[in-house]
Amino acid sequence: LIGSVAGAQVQDMPGGPKVNQLNLHEGVTAISRDIMWLHWMLLTICIVIFIGVFGVMFYSIWAHRKSRGHKAATFHEHLGVEVAWTVIPFIIVIAMALPATKTVVAMKDTSSADVTVKVTGYQWKWGYEYLDGSAAGIKFLSTLSTPRAQIENREPKGEFYLMEVDNHLVVPVNKKVRVVLTAADVIHSWMIPDFGVKQDAIPGFLRDAWFNADKPGIYRGQCAELCGKDHAFMPIVVEVLAQADYDKWVEDQKKKMAANADDPNKEWTEAELVARGEKVFAANCVACHQANGKGIPGSFPPLDGDKVVLGPKAEQINTVLKGKPGTAMAAFGGQLNDVEIAAVISYTRHAWSNAGKGQDPTVL
Ligand code: CUA
Repeated sequence: LIGSVAGAQVQDMPGGPKVNQLNLHEGVTAISRDIMWLHWMLLTICIVIFIGVFGVMFYSIWAHRKSRGHKAATFHEHLGVEVAWTVIPFIIVIAMALPATKTVVAMKDTSSADVTVKVTGYQWKWGYEYLDGSAAGIKFLSTLSTPRAQIENREPKGEFYLMEVDNHLVVPVNKKVRVVLTAADVIHSWMIPDFGVKQDAIPGFLRDAWFNADKPGIYRGQCAELCGKDHAFMPIVVEVLAQADYDKWVEDQKKKMAANADDPNKEWTEAELVARGEKVFAANCVACHQANGKGIPGSFPPLDGDKVVLGPKAEQINTVLKGKPGTAMAAFGGQLNDVEIAAVISYTRHAWSNAGKGQDPTVL
C-alpha cells in the first residue's frame, strides 16, 4: 500500500502507516498489539543469537589466527558443549513458542461474540450480512467505488491512491465482532492489519475470525489471496463507530432496506422489470460484461463470433443463479433476490431483441 512505486511521491496513509515506516503498524486490537509484541520479542531473540554466534565465530578466527601460533584443538566429544547446545536452543524455542501459541489460541477463540457478520468474497467485491443482534438482517455488497481503469489512468501516475468502497462494514467500538467467512467463486482472504486479522474465505467452507477494536475510526485492508485479474482491486474498509453512532447506523440501514425492499405482492410490468434490470446489470454485471463493440450495446458474453449467446431462458436463469463452471461467471443466487434475477434476465433479453437480434435469443 505504501511507497511501492520507486521514486513516486507518496503520502502517509490517513490514520495508517507512515511512508517512511519500516516496522509493522501498531493496530487497535489486543491481538494486533500481541502480534506487535511477538514480532519485537522474536526479532530481539534472533538478533541476540546472531550477535552471540557470529561474535564467537569472528572472535575465534581473529584471536586464534595462525600467525599468532595457534593450533586447532582436536578432541572428539565434549559433554558440556553438547548439553549446552541442546538445552539452550530448547529453552529458547519454548520461550518463543509459549507466548506465540497463547496468541494463536486467543485468535481462534471466536466464542461469545457481540456481533456476528457473515463475509462473502466474490470476484471482485465483498458481501456482508449481519447475523445477530440489533443489526440482524442487514445485508449489502461492498464494491470498489471508482472503476479500475479510472484508477489506473489517474494523473499523476504512481501517486498514493486510497481505494474507496461504496459500503463500509460498520461495527461498534469495544465489542467482540466475529466474522464468518466464505467465498462464492474462488479463494479470497480477508485481511485487516490494524485488527491483526487475516483469514482465508474459501468456497464451500465457513471459517471464522474475530476482532475487538478499541478505537473508533476507519480501518483498511485488502484481499490477501490472489483471486483473479482484479485481486488488487477488492479493498476492505471497516468503520468502527461509538455505540450510539452504530445504533443510529443500524436504524438508518434498516430504513433504507425497507424503502428499497420489493413488495412481494407487486405485479411487475415488463417495462418495470427491464428498467429495474438495467440497474441490476449496471451494479452487478458490467465489471465483466462490458460493451466492447461486439454484439449488442452492453454486450453479454460468452461471445461466439459476433453472436451473443443467452441461451434458453431456463438455462440463462440457471447460469445467473449458479454461475458457469469453467468460466469466470459467478453464482449470483445468494447475492440477488428473485425480483432482481427476473429483472436482469428480462433486461438482457429485452436488450437482445432491441439490438435487432430477433425476438428469441434461443434461436441462433
Ligand atoms: Cu479476492 Cu484476491
